[in-house]
Amino acid sequence: MATVLLAGGAGYIGSHTAVELLNAGYEVVIADNFANSSPESVRRVEQITGKKVTLYELDIKDRAGLSEVFHAHQIDAVIHFAGLKAVGESVEKPIMYYRNNIDTTLSLLEVMQEADVKKIIFSSSATVYGETNPVPYTETMPRGVCTNPYGWTKAMMEQIFEDAARADQALSVILLRYFNPIGAHASGRIGEDPQGIPNNLMPYVTQVAVGKRACLTIYGNDYPTPDGTCTRDYIHVVDLAKGHVKAIQYILQNHCMEIINLGTGQPYSVTEIVDTFEKVNGVKINHVYGARRAGDLPACYANADKALEILGWKTELSLEDMCRDAWNWQKQNPNGYQNA
Ligand code: NAD
Ligand code: UFG
Repeated sequence: MATVLLAGGAGYIGSHTAVELLNAGYEVVIADNFANSSPESVRRVEQITGKKVTLYELDIKDRAGLSEVFHAHQIDAVIHFAGLKAVGESVEKPIMYYRNNIDTTLSLLEVMQEADVKKIIFSSSATVYGETNPVPYTETMPRGVCTNPYGWTKAMMEQIFEDAARADQALSVILLRYFNPIGAHASGRIGEDPQGIPNNLMPYVTQVAVGKRACLTIYGNDYPTPDGTCTRDYIHVVDLAKGHVKAIQYILQNHCMEIINLGTGQPYSVTEIVDTFEKVNGVKINHVYGARRAGDLPACYANADKALEILGWKTELSLEDMCRDAWNWQKQNPNGYQNA
């Protein structure tokens, strides 16, 4: 079976993808510098699957170190998750974001070229659709004007991959544009473990539920949406992980340069998330309505047809599943992987 290198594979989406790849019979190698994760997630991936992962503590920007990984293994394909992803922090520290996110990408492409590895899947984001494209977003729409440096790094990296694939006819690339991944593995052993105060909605909700935060502020209830709060395309992280397995199967069999949305196509509002979480889990989420958050779009959701057409993939898990599994993870791990 093929060997897949997960750059940044100890993180939230990478660890869930590792589980699904191992379950599908792939060999998994992870390289991560633990900038936003810990080796504990990889240990738990091994527990869940009963299979071994080869783990390297490595900064992907370190070309020499990365080259050693490619010499030590016959890598068939790479999934590039490694990146910094906090939108607000990227506004404060743009240079750090450009350096880390762009350099990891260049480093991977250079070392892959040396090692003659020709298949790479990249973690892109719905954020590249920008502010002006109408929802639902389809892959044929042009990249838009991003609202923060994090988003620009994704747009720039997409451009780098497209140019690299144009120049090297043998290089295959799939750019996966994720919508809003939430939830956790059903075991509750792996999940999202944000550092400090969560920026994203679901980890904030679960931390209110577990008593770590007093109250959720819902950012704005005067948007042009059915209930006035923003709508997003929330996708269960296990569905998302399975989408990566399909993308690996596809890229191993086809020469390609594809952009593919990974979403459900179904928008839900912030209020619907809070209501569903309370109902499914039987807990109260103390919340207030506050001002709009700068940079938020009223609505963001996918047209998910292409993933079904090309990869034969669509989501299977519901919003109820997402809320239940997110809470199960948080309850079992009130401090994430810390002190595990
Ligand atoms: P995460 O922070 O949990 O995972 C990213 C991993 O990359 C972490 O383990 C981190 O330690 C590692 N990393 C960062 N810089 C590195 C470097 N220089 N060398 C080695 N490892 C490095 O984030 P995630 O939610 O799992 O996201 C994975 C990818 O998906 C990221 O590229 C992110 O931008 C993208 N994405 C995430 C979302 C989301 O909402 N979670 C949405 C769209 C796109
Ligand atoms: N929200 C709140 N209160 C909070 C946190 C979030 O009301 O405490 C609201 C936001 O205003 C937004 C919704 O919940 O309406 C979702 O917010 P998130 O921060 O969870 O997600 P975003 O849609 O803002 O951002 C996500 C990813 C980014 C990515 C972007 C676009 O976190 O990486 O989608 O794809 F760039």
